[in-house]
Order: sequence, then structure tokens, then C-alpha cells
Amino acid sequence: MKLRSVAAALSVVSSSILFAAPDEAALREKVAALLAQMSTEEKIGQLVQYSAPGAETGPATRRNVEAEIAAGRVGSILNAIGVEQTRHYQKIAVEQTRLKIPLIFGYDVIHGYQTIFPINLAQAASWDLAAIENSERIAAIEASAAGIHWTFAPMVDIARDPRWGRVMEGSGEDPFLGSAIARARVRGFQGDDLTNPESLLACVKHFAAYGAAQAGRDYNTTDVPEIVLRDVYFPPFQAALEAGVGTFMAAFNDLNGVPASASKFLMTDVLRKEWGFDGFVVSDWTSIRELLPHGIAADEPEAALLAFNAGVDMDMESRLYLPHLPALVESGAVPMSRLDEAVTAILLAKARLGLFEDPYRGTSEEREKQAMLRPEHLEAARDLARKSAVLLKNERSTLPLRKDAKIALVGQLADTQRDLIGEWRARGREEDAVTVRTALEKAYPGRVTYALGAKSMGDDRSGFAAAVAAAKKSDVVVAVLGEGWFLSGEASSRSSIKIPGVQAELLAELRKTGKPVVLVLFAGRPLALANVLDHVDALLLAWLPGTMGGPAIVDLLSGAFSPSGKLPMTFPRNVGQVPIFYNHRATGRPFDPAKGPDKWKSQYLDVPNTPQFPFGFGLSYTTFKYSDARVASPTLDANGNQRISVTVKNTGRVEAAEVVQLYLRDVAGSVTRPVRELKGFERITLKPGESREIVFTLKPQDLAFHRTDMSFKPEPGKFEVFVGPDSTAPKIGEFTYRDPAQN
Ligand code: GLC
Repeated sequence: MKLRSVAAALSVVSSSILFAAPDEAALREKVAALLAQMSTEEKIGQLVQYSAPGAETGPATRRNVEAEIAAGRVGSILNAIGVEQTRHYQKIAVEQTRLKIPLIFGYDVIHGYQTIFPINLAQAASWDLAAIENSERIAAIEASAAGIHWTFAPMVDIARDPRWGRVMEGSGEDPFLGSAIARARVRGFQGDDLTNPESLLACVKHFAAYGAAQAGRDYNTTDVPEIVLRDVYFPPFQAALEAGVGTFMAAFNDLNGVPASASKFLMTDVLRKEWGFDGFVVSDWTSIRELLPHGIAADEPEAALLAFNAGVDMDMESRLYLPHLPALVESGAVPMSRLDEAVTAILLAKARLGLFEDPYRGTSEEREKQAMLRPEHLEAARDLARKSAVLLKNERSTLPLRKDAKIALVGQLADTQRDLIGEWRARGREEDAVTVRTALEKAYPGRVTYALGAKSMGDDRSGFAAAVAAAKKSDVVVAVLGEGWFLSGEASSRSSIKIPGVQAELLAELRKTGKPVVLVLFAGRPLALANVLDHVDALLLAWLPGTMGGPAIVDLLSGAFSPSGKLPMTFPRNVGQVPIFYNHRATGRPFDPAKGPDKWKSQYLDVPNTPQFPFGFGLSYTTFKYSDARVASPTLDANGNQRISVTVKNTGRVEAAEVVQLYLRDVAGSVTRPVRELKGFERITLKPGESREIVFTLKPQDLAFHRTDMSFKPEPGKFEVFVGPDSTAPKIGEFTYRDPAQN
């Protein structure tokens, strides 16, 4: 059907009558009919997104948002909170504008809405895709009940530098794990039907390579070779797209000389032409206006022109599309076809959400109240917090604590609610968070002595004496130390990744008492722990564990559950090793510690090349035995499968989960290849004595990588296979990939 004829057949009617059919083709026709009625100014109005005044998440000046909405100059509002405020703005849009096009409300629902889950890097340590998907489903239930339609999540930036504060928001250093988690998060948010009023439209961000910021300094320049872009940084975005993500967010960073928000390569050539994306791209905060300080736009009109023609459809808070696009369209610098493409994508997103049928998506004060902090939400948060914690050290079985233990609980972070919920807490309320202290005193009534010891920041040592005194009269010390919530997140990079303040000194003083010391570590990033490891007998990494963090940590300290987390990001020995990640390339002079000292190899004079704790590492209260590992066939053919199997047995005395990991090494390729790459994992729970065979199936496409011509293919040759509990897993065999077409 010619869209013009549909438009001609329709008088100017409010958009609400237009949208009844649920199927895509019908939606597209009706969006086209609506578009045909829109003036250029009304089209440009759809590209404009403002923050609700008073809730800005970046540098901004306020304006009269109501008047702008009524004038048809706003397509979206972010940071509008709650049913009352969103209904207020929506009512203006659907009653006072000529075409009554509804607004779409966006918000950063990053690790929960009111029920706050562990920070995303912590969640990645669970390797539990079902639990992660469920956490996003719960976040969608709570946020949609508050009138939110669209979340600026999942953040999928691969991160190899713990100095960067936003590592807390992503899934760590590995593209395979990051891709699996990206899919799970999109499924959780969007469900299988965006018209379901409990679904959220997702927004995968920050496209692209924001995590490669030089020196780990937020917003800094990134220089990333295209092969690395495509093999490391792109895959989680492609995974989100495969899962149906409806929107992308353009990144702030200068990528190889072109800021992402002006990158036609990213937003059009890759995203739309190569990957076939048909949703829309929103800028990140003022990233369009920032093209001026980047030095790629000489003035505001040029910034608007570069971003819009590159493929950034919606202007979040730069306020450049509204004033400058009319003249750019008039002059032809911006083709009307480009404007129509952007507006169509935005209107389609609104239509797919069902906003034209019900702009309020069934929200009510009652539904909003009913949705929040349900018992099953809190239990899911506690479960994920348990699974996210990583046991990094446990000598002399210091953990779990004895049932009758007298415990000295030390540290400000044991007793503060705000730190539990981390940054990007959405509407998480600290008063709902349960601290370690509250949970421990409940689990060990009358046997916990709390002493502050030291705050998480500053050099006040006046609390040391009381903490040492408490330790002396107890059986064991539990010190909850590390980073407060404000040391990670956006605009929170650190040049040192040590435990801040005088907390390490406090640990040394506690060690002198001779009592066993358990460190429960709060952190938004990998930390350098070399200066504290000798002072502790056990170390449980709790990250920033969310609303139910306290009970979850005590579930582990008490032995009710065994820790099962595995690091999604390498822990360096010191910041001088950074960037350090497991899937690095070999160099021509790889240092092999097994061969002993050898000066002329790639190494440091003052520290081993190995990390403090490797990617994939995490201990348990039980032990697991790996046996019968085998590679089914010595060869893999172009249309064959390779079966890799291993038997895992719980050889200890408690039930626990293990994450069995499969790594490959492509020994030689037309470009240098990583010394290992994660190619499979399975999280299993085994009772004492229970065994299970784990089977991984590899296809030739699992061996593919980008070559110098950017083709993505496997190459014939030898592959080494590693299977085990972390990225140092032993070699269990090898096979040869043969491709007759390439021989
Ligand atoms: C921020 C963040 C981005 C967030 C947006 C809206 O600057 O970079 O991740 O979604 O602005 O709050």
C-alpha cells in the first residue's frame, strides 16, 4: 500500500485512533500515516528529550518542560519519577498537542528500581543468567508501575581497566560472558511482548568502546583497532541486538579520532547497514553538544548536523536539534528522508510499547504501591547477592563461622545502608537496605560486638583501640571494609585501586590480636589487595550487594550457603599492571614462569605478570574434582561439531555451585590470537558426593575471528582446549580445524 494514499485517506485525527493493530506491518503503516500528517517542527519535536527538572543526571540548566511539551517540542522525558509526575507530563502531551503523540519516559534502571540488586559487575560474578534475567524482570515490573517505559540499560561496555569507575555498571572484561549477560538483561527488561505494561524498552549502551578510556579516566579518549573493536567491544552490543533490544545509546568518547556521537561508521555503517538495526539511537546526555569541546564541530549547527547525519536520532539534553535542525532540513544539509527515518524509529518504539493505545500503560497509584519491594523481589535480590559474592581466600577453614562464635564486627561499611545500594540506585531507598550488622546480630544474637574501627575514607585512627579491644574479647573478627558507594560509578575514576583511607592499617592492628580475621570487602571495581592479604585469613568479596546485601553476606558467613561467585574481571597485584586481562595476546617474548627466570621476556622487574586473582576465579566451602575431560575428535570439519566433556564431582561436605569454564586457544592465525578465550560455561549445583558430566558443543563459527580484511571466519589449524574452574584451567586436549574450502 502506498503510504501517501493511506495518509490522504485519513483526515487529521488524533494518533490514539490510529493504533489498534498489534502486528508490525500494521504498526509501520500507521506510523507512516501519522508521519505524513506531521509538520517539520512536529517531527523535530519527537527528537527532543529533556530531563525532568531537579532530577538531572549530568550538567544541565533547567527549562519550562510543560510549555515545551504542550508546544509539541518534546518526544521524551527522562528522570520523571512516579505515576503522578509521568501522568502529569503525558496528559499535557496527549491532550494539548495537535497530534496527541505520547511521550516516552526513560530512566536509568541499572540494577533495580526500588528493590536494588547487587551492582552489575557483582551480578556478572554469579554467571547465573537466569537470576540476572529475573532481576531485570523484577526491575521492569517495579519501574513500569512507576510510569517508566524505557530504561537506559543494559550497559555492556567491556572493561579492562579497574581505575574506570563505571566498571561497576557492566559485566567485566570478557566478550563471551558479557554477551550472554547482555542477552539475559534485554530479555528480562523487554520480555517477549513490549505491549505488556510490565515490560520496559531496553537501551544498550554506550556504543561504543567507552570502557577503553585511556588511563581509566572517565570520558577520556579511546583508541581501539577495528579488529579489537569487532572481536572484543562489539559482541555484547550484537548480542543485545540479537535479543531484540529496541534502542542504542551513543557513547561520549572520542573513538579513534571521531567521537561516537558523530560516528557514521558506528551509527550507520555498522549499526544499521551491517547489523540491520531498525530502532533508534539516543545521545548520551550532552554528548552532541560535547562535539564542540571534542573539537570536531566548530559551532552548534555543525554539532547537530554531524550527530544527526551520523545516525543519532534523539537529542538527550544537548538542546541542539530543536534550534538547528529546521534550518539544516530547509537547506537540505539534513535530507527529509533522514528526518523521517529518525522520527519513524521513535514513533515505532512508542507504538510497539502500546503507548498510542494507552499512553498511561495501565499505571495507577495502587499498582505503583503494590509493585515495590514485594517479598519475592527481596528474596531474588538476596539470592543474587549471595551468588555474586566471591570467596577469594579461606585459610584454615576460617569460614564459615562457627555457630557459637563470638564475633567482633568492625568497619563503617558493616553499618551503613547507603553503601549497600551503590551508584545508579534509581529509586532505591537506603532505609530499605539491610546492613551486615543488622543481619549478623540477628543470626548471632548476643554474640556480636560492633566497633567502627575506621571510616571507609579519611585518616581518623581514633576507633582503632575499641576495635582491637572488641577483637581481643571475641573468637573471630569480621571486618567489613573497602570502597564506599561514591568511589565507583560515573565520573568516579580512581588513580589508586587500593582500599581507601586507613582501613588497611586497621586490619594490620586487628591481625596483631592473633584472632582469625575475615575481611568482607565492599568494592565497585577490582582492588589491589597485596597490602591486606597477609592480614586476613579469609576474604569474601561482597561488591556493593544491594538492598538485601546484609542478609546475603551473613547467609554466606554462617555457612547457610556456600559462596559460588567467579571473578568477571581480573584483580591486579597493583595498578601498575593495568590494563591486565586474561584474554591477552602472547607477544613474541611471552614470559613463562614454569621455565624459570628469563630476563629477555615480556615482564616487570618488580612484580610477576600473573594477577592477584585471575578472571573466573572464586573459592567454595566445598571442593570439586574434575575428571574424564575429553575432546571427542582430533579434528573438527567445516560442517561438524566438536564435543568437549568433563565430569565434575563435589568431593566436599556441603552443597555448592560451581561454574565450569571452557577456554580455547587458536594457536596460530592470520592475526595474533588471545592466549585463551572463554567459549563456554555452565553453572551447576552439586550435593556432596554428586557428580555430573558437563558437555560443551563447539561449531566452526565458534572459532571465528576478524581478520585484517574484517572478514569474520575460522581458520584451519590447531586449537588447544582448557576446562576448569577459572581462566588458569589446565589444558585437557586439542583438535585441528580443517576447512577443505580453505586448504
Ligand atoms: C549519563 C550516563 C548514561 C545515562 C544518561 C542518563 O551521563 O552516561 O549512562 O543513561 O546520562 O542519565
